[in-house]
Amino acid sequence: MRLLVTGGAGYIGSVVAAQLVEAGHEVTVLDDLSTGHADAVPEGARFVEGSITEAGDALAGVEAVLHFAARSLVGESVEKPGLYWSHNLGGTLALLEAMHERGVRRIVFSSTAATYGEPERSPIVESDPTRPTNPYGASKLAVDTALTAYAGLRGLGAVSLRYFNVAGAYGRLRERHTVETHLIPNVLKVATGERESVSVFGTDYPTADGTCVRDYIHVSDLARAHLLALDAVTEGQHKIYNLGNGTGFSVQEVISVCREVTGHDIPAVVGPRRAGDPAVLVASSEKIQRELGWKAERASIRDIVADAWDALSGE
Ligand code: UFG
Repeated sequence: MRLLVTGGAGYIGSVVAAQLVEAGHEVTVLDDLSTGHADAVPEGARFVEGSITEAGDALAGVEAVLHFAARSLVGESVEKPGLYWSHNLGGTLALLEAMHERGVRRIVFSSTAATYGEPERSPIVESDPTRPTNPYGASKLAVDTALTAYAGLRGLGAVSLRYFNVAGAYGRLRERHTVETHLIPNVLKVATGERESVSVFGTDYPTADGTCVRDYIHVSDLARAHLLALDAVTEGQHKIYNLGNGTGFSVQEVISVCREVTGHDIPAVVGPRRAGDPAVLVASSEKIQRELGWKAERASIRDIVADAWDALSGE
């Protein structure tokens, strides 16, 4: 198919773009490079540098859009809510209008576990309440709401994938954020000598070791779900799926695995809680397994960390 991948120079978008090219699709990447890297656009994909608010020309001849371009840091969204509403919701609405004008009726959207907020139960299923606790999650939930409306009103076909904690690498494609806030890359940067220690944000949560528990999913497994989602897009319907492995690991457990994988003692310093962090976030991915036949191939936290480490230390 002829596909447009917005945000395809970013971490997740570039891995999906690479898998789409490998599967034989004709891929155009649209990215304004505000947080992405031009060298992450896979060979074989056409690259258009630009904003999703001006996607018009890049949409010519396109059959479906995979939409990743977004601001995605929870902490930053609390400090700059306007940026998140304008980029994530405003930008997506502009993209949806441009798609409508060009007759593009299929979209796969990068949604998030942050749409659920503080969960009432674990693992989280798609029908659980959505009560986001920060502007990032709220802006993504607003897009999900818009997609449901566009499916009903205009016959758009949409699939939203709600990611839990994405990690690992796909070959050389790895997380490369200017300001890194995510746990696994920050821990591994201690092993490369880029940081002296890692901070543990709170040890007084109601979990077995007192640190937050998250559901880590390999970026390669996550990306593969997008190819299945693309096949499952049905005009007039908006389908929503969680994507995680269904198993939680605490911050302390992740640091231990990083120590084993790297052979480095990785000093950890206990600090205060980070605002807005729920104690436990674990996905039920039973729906996507049942309906789309998705199955994780690299579900072990050791494999996830090892692939992230190989990409980082191999540079
Ligand atoms: N953490 C630390 N030290 C660090 C970094 C993180 O202790 O240096 C802790 C956090 O407090 C949290 C856990 O490690 O408890 C994971 O934090 P991340 O920043 O890696 O990931 P988050 O769970 O905050 O958020 C990620 C994505 C969001 C997404 C969310 C959904 O960044 O976009 O997963 O689960 F919404």
